[in-house]
Order: sequence, then structure tokens, then C-alpha cells
Amino acid sequence: MRLQGKVAIITGGNSGIGRSTAQLFADEGAKVVIVARDAQRGRAAARGIQANGGAAHFVPCDVRLAEDCQRAVGTAIEVFGGLDVLVNNAGIIYRGRDVLGTTLDEWEETFAVNVRGAFLMSKYALPEMIRRRAGSIVNVASYFGLVGGGQVAAYCASKGALVQLTRAMALDHAGDGVRVNCVCPGSVHTPMIQEAWERFGEGAPQVWAAKHPLGRVAQPEEVARAILFLASSASSFVTGAALPVDGGITAA
Ligand SMILES: NC(=O)c1ccc[n+]([C@@H]2O[C@H](COP(=O)([O-])OP(=O)(O)OC[C@H]3O[C@@H](n4cnc5c(N)ncnc54)[C@H](OP(=O)(O)O)[C@@H]3O)[C@@H](O)[C@H]2O)c1
Repeated sequence: MRLQGKVAIITGGNSGIGRSTAQLFADEGAKVVIVARDAQRGRAAARGIQANGGAAHFVPCDVRLAEDCQRAVGTAIEVFGGLDVLVNNAGIIYRGRDVLGTTLDEWEETFAVNVRGAFLMSKYALPEMIRRRAGSIVNVASYFGLVGGGQVAAYCASKGALVQLTRAMALDHAGDGVRVNCVCPGSVHTPMIQEAWERFGEGAPQVWAAKHPLGRVAQPEEVARAILFLASSASSFVTGAALPVDGGITAA
């Protein structure tokens, strides 16, 4: 049990990578707080964990909003008595858009969820972690935070910002006993990519698989295991890292 008794918040914990992470964390003994907007999927995710004997609580929250983030952190501390781990996983993407094709609203929304959300959640989580002089924050960035990609301009910029926020926070809070790292996944089989495949049409899974030296996309559990490593004491001397979980894409 690598997270026995720990309290973990996972934003976007009702779908894809976040949902797998919530389940894995609960399997490893954590009390999990699932944070997202869709209450139906959020409660279902929490119930799934409880049905397996785990501890989970859903908090409806839009990570773009400061008051929602503050309430989510407050609820975690109130319900489970503290906070040890924050996973900033909630994210969105507008595909098929270079800068010319990106509206100002799309740009602002991408940054509001992918960057401001992580900033706000961290801002409200850090005081409890600093008070305990222990904590681990794991941001879910992307390989598009490490290298560029075509037609995803706002997403690339936002994930690059998240990688740099990770490094800045790691330096600022190393002396507080709080570690901050991020994972940079390649393509992962979640609703986010399913949507892209449907838009692309026939042959999409093969095209996406071929981009990865390992010859396939990841399953969400494979990213969840990397998040678990960074969240747990297995990574006790790791901070400020941007860990590619990308089937080798960024090795090229
Ligand atoms: N799938 C990939 O290929 C891939 C690759 C690299 C990185 N990533 C990153 O991995 C993370 C998870 O993506 P995924 O693939 O698991 O996608 P997903 O299944 O679409 O999940 C996205 C999650 O973000 C939540 N979310 C979106 N906007 C939110 C908001 N304003 N407030 C709170 N929660 C919000 C969604 O919940 P609600 O809609 O209910 O709020 C959902 O739980 C994202 O940061 C994504 O950029 C994914």
C-alpha cells in the first residue's frame, strides 16, 4: 500500500487518466477526493471506488473558479482530515487550430482550465501541505509541453506553461517539504482522444499508434502508475521533474 492513509485530491477524477488515477490511489490505500464539473460521472467514479472497499468523495468544482477550488480543498481537509497529495489533471484541448484558427475565447478557456486551474488548486492546497511540512503535487502536462505539435497551438502553450509552473513551484516549496512534479503523457486512450479519432475517421487509432516508438497509444492506467510514483515516497528525492510517459515520442 503505497499511499496508505494519505488524502489525495484528483482534479478531472471522473474520466480518463484522472479516473484511473483515483482508482489506483484508492487501491493503494489513499482517501480520494474527486474534483470535476460533471456530478453524475463524479458520483459514479466515487461509488465505483467505494464498491471496491475504498474511500472516496466527490466535490463538484470548476477549476477555472477560485471559490470552487478553495471549497474543494476545504472539503477534502474537512471530510478526510488533511491533504497529502494534489493531482492537477483536469484539462481540455481544442484540436485542428493554429493561432489563426484559435478564437480568443478558446485560448482563454484552454489556459483557464490547464494552467489557472492548477495554479488555483495549488494555491489553496499548499498552506495545508506547508503546515504539515509534507506534500506532493503532480501536474498532468503532456508531451506537447516538451515539444511542439501542429494545430494545437493553445494546448501546446498551456502545457508548456504547466511544465514551467511545475519547476517554479518545485524550487519555491522544496524547503517547505513539498515536492512538485509533472508527467508528460503521449497519446492515451481516453474520451479526449476518442473524440479526436472520431473526427479523424477511419484508421485513426493506427495513425496515432504509429506516432509512438512503442507502436501504440497508452492505456490510462499506465499514466496513473507514473502519477502514483511521483505522488508516493518512492520518488522522495524527485522534485521539479517532467517525466515523459510517452512511448518514446520525445526521445526522438
Ligand atoms: N488523452 C491523452 O492523449 C492525453 C495526452 C497527454 C496529456 N493528457 C492530459 O491528461 C489530462 C486528462 O485527460 P484525459 O485524456 O483523461 O481526458 P478526459 O477523459 O477528457 O478528462 C478530462 C477531465 O478534465 C475535467 N475537466 C475539464 N474541464 C474542467 C473544469 N473546468 N473544471 C474541472 N474539471 C474539468 C473533466 O471533467 P468535467 O468535464 O466533468 O469537468 C474530465 O474529468 C488532461 O490534462 C490532458 O490534457 C491527455
